[in-house]
Amino acid sequence: MQFPHLFSPITINGMTLKNRAVMPPMGTGYGNSDSTVSDRLVAYLARRAQGGTGLIITEVCAVDPRGKGFPNEVGVWNDSFIPGLARIPEALHRYGAKTALQLHHAGRETFEAAAGAMPEAPSAIPSVILGQPCEAMSLERVAQVIGSFARAAGRAKAAGFDAVELHGAHGYLLNQFLSPFSNQRNDQYGGSDENRMRFVLEIVAGVRKVVGPDFPVWIRVSADELVRGGYDLDFMQKFAPRMVAAGVDAIHCSAGVYSTPGNLSVASMDTDPGFNLFRARALKSVVNVPVIGVGRINNPELADQAIARGDADLISFGRQHLTDPDFINKAHDGAFDDIRWCTACNQGCIERLSFEMKSATCSFNPECGREYKGPASKADPSQRVWVIGAGPAGLSAAMAAAARGHKVEIFEKEEKPGGQLLSASRPPHKAVFMDWVTWALHQLKKSSTPVHCQHTVNKEEIKQRRPDAVIIACGAYPVTAPIPGFDSKMVADARDVLTGKVELVSPVVILGAGYVGMETADYLLAKGIAVTVLEMQPFPPVGKLTAHGYWLHKRIKDAGGRLIFGAQVLDIEAGDVRYRQNDAERVVESAAMIVTAMGAKSENSLEDVLKELAIPFRTVGDAKTPRRILEAIHEGHKAGEGI
Ligand SMILES: Cc1cc2nc3c(=O)[nH]c(=O)nc-3n(C[C@H](O)[C@H](O)[C@H](O)COP(=O)(O)OP(=O)(O)OC[C@H]3O[C@@H](n4cnc5c(N)ncnc54)[C@H](O)[C@@H]3O)c2cc1C
Ligand SMILES: Cc1cc2nc3c(=O)[nH]c(=O)nc-3n(C[C@H](O)[C@H](O)[C@H](O)COP(=O)(O)O)c2cc1C
Ligand code: SF4
Repeated sequence: MQFPHLFSPITINGMTLKNRAVMPPMGTGYGNSDSTVSDRLVAYLARRAQGGTGLIITEVCAVDPRGKGFPNEVGVWNDSFIPGLARIPEALHRYGAKTALQLHHAGRETFEAAAGAMPEAPSAIPSVILGQPCEAMSLERVAQVIGSFARAAGRAKAAGFDAVELHGAHGYLLNQFLSPFSNQRNDQYGGSDENRMRFVLEIVAGVRKVVGPDFPVWIRVSADELVRGGYDLDFMQKFAPRMVAAGVDAIHCSAGVYSTPGNLSVASMDTDPGFNLFRARALKSVVNVPVIGVGRINNPELADQAIARGDADLISFGRQHLTDPDFINKAHDGAFDDIRWCTACNQGCIERLSFEMKSATCSFNPECGREYKGPASKADPSQRVWVIGAGPAGLSAAMAAAARGHKVEIFEKEEKPGGQLLSASRPPHKAVFMDWVTWALHQLKKSSTPVHCQHTVNKEEIKQRRPDAVIIACGAYPVTAPIPGFDSKMVADARDVLTGKVELVSPVVILGAGYVGMETADYLLAKGIAVTVLEMQPFPPVGKLTAHGYWLHKRIKDAGGRLIFGAQVLDIEAGDVRYRQNDAERVVESAAMIVTAMGAKSENSLEDVLKELAIPFRTVGDAKTPRRILEAIHEGHKAGEGI
């Protein structure tokens, strides 16, 4: 067998798992508005169990309504939830997976709208990120919440779950009590290490008492808070054996809290795969129970090596489960080329949930969260479908239409398929974006769908060959502003710079500090080129709250890049870029190249001829409105399914 360590069974307090692959808890927002389990949530989890994973841990489930982190968080705070919760183990056991329920209280990391009252915490110190005022818990309330965890664990057991996981990580209530950063109490639950450990240890003991000695219970911890004033790995190495003594059967080793710079709890592509394994190893060295490692581990090969090395006993693959629910079975069967890889972009999952207040999905997997709808029906009759453009929208549309049995052809005017991903995958840490293109082309090859490159579809060709239906996925072309000097040979478009169509020189001025401008700066700085970025808006369009945004700003600053905001460019003359800032005229002198990253405009000019000929068509992705990969892939898929 290719991955003997990953695919070997393990037993945790009587629960035997068929392999060491774990799907860690991931909040989805799929729960019903009354916090009960929905059909959508059950179908989504069952799909992951079908994919071969040994252990699936539910997302956060609130032990108390005041501990909800988002409004439709699944509840486990009274017995009425038990029948709905029971649907999860029932569905997952059919595929041979075991399942644990994650017991959660958000503490200060929530909003009044979700918690139904002012958030509660060890001390009245508002969350650094959310800023919401919160209330310090009284001793009576502390005792109540300890009881809530214990009773909720009993309900999980009654609902048929195989185990429970206590959420002691990521800056939520248990973590808040452990941390000198958020716990400044001066009673028996605050102050010394011993006192700060007390709340969690009492919860472990309380849970153990309710579920009995033979039911697996473990805890998820952030092994290091990675914030100034927080606890560190040394503290967790002292605490881990205490938790084992109190009754936990395993430790799930995550890292970071809400305010950790660069969000290392859900690390972006800017962080190395397996970056947190050394912490799992450090905890393993002080306990005699299994340790679960997690943190940017997508690749079953890396997981297998980590287990073989003794870094961890089991491996959690988080977002990889969103991108490809079947990747464990595919790895088991050696079908590596069929694995669709998570890029760690965070855009479709955690940042959509946290910043857009929408349910989670995956930018690269349009079916994530739609499993309950079932597969699309076969096409009847099968039609000749043209997909124009082989960017993410076109490739996604073609795969969906071909899967339904249409005769699909893709046309691409450039030499290679990929669209803007050809340039989007060039900046540091973004090569992984091309993996999706490689994967998509492999799937299209398997369905014998031709991709005709260097073939620009025009009106005449459509008139002559008259396809039955068309998907316009022509993307968007870069635009500039009517500024004197923009026609100079020194001015180049960011996409051309990134794809190597332009010879690189130094110094460079980039116009526009959106993602394209910032990533181009990152790319050039990494090559030793001096960069100044001028942005018209007074504030950075790329925020530092997103993980990738944080790392982009950091790398640009560390490499000496200059970012100038509120700068309205007036003209360009022989390398001098003149701009107005705060009513004063200024100049960046002697640029060897000026790079434009000023936005894009949809290419949908073929719509007219299709309307004229009454050929059914759909316009998707950037061709509809310039946006992101998520919209391109999801809209393309929907169009392919809808024809
Ligand atoms: C540097 C850069 C970084 C980016 N980073 C990210 C990111 O991190 N995350 C994110 O979500 N988005 C990112 N984007 C945006 C993202 O790449 C686009 O939103 C996405 O590619 C749009 O997909 P699409 O298929 O609609 O269009 P495109 O990717 O533009 O593809 C359209 C294709 O159609 C072809 N075409 C056009 N007209 C014709 C014709 N008449 N006949 C044949 N072919 C034709 C084009 O050549 C092109 O290949 C980035 C973009 C750039 C430039
Ligand atoms: C959308 C999303 C929601 C998450 N929700 C939870 C959660 O409910 N409980 C939890 O302990 N961790 C949560 N996490 C963190 C993951 O369990 C996991 O630790 C993290 O994604 C890192 O693993 P990965 O790099 O394999 O994705 C969430 C992550 C994502 C992407
Ligand atoms: S949206 Fe991005 S980070 Fe999230 S699962 Fe999909 S590929 Fe991974």
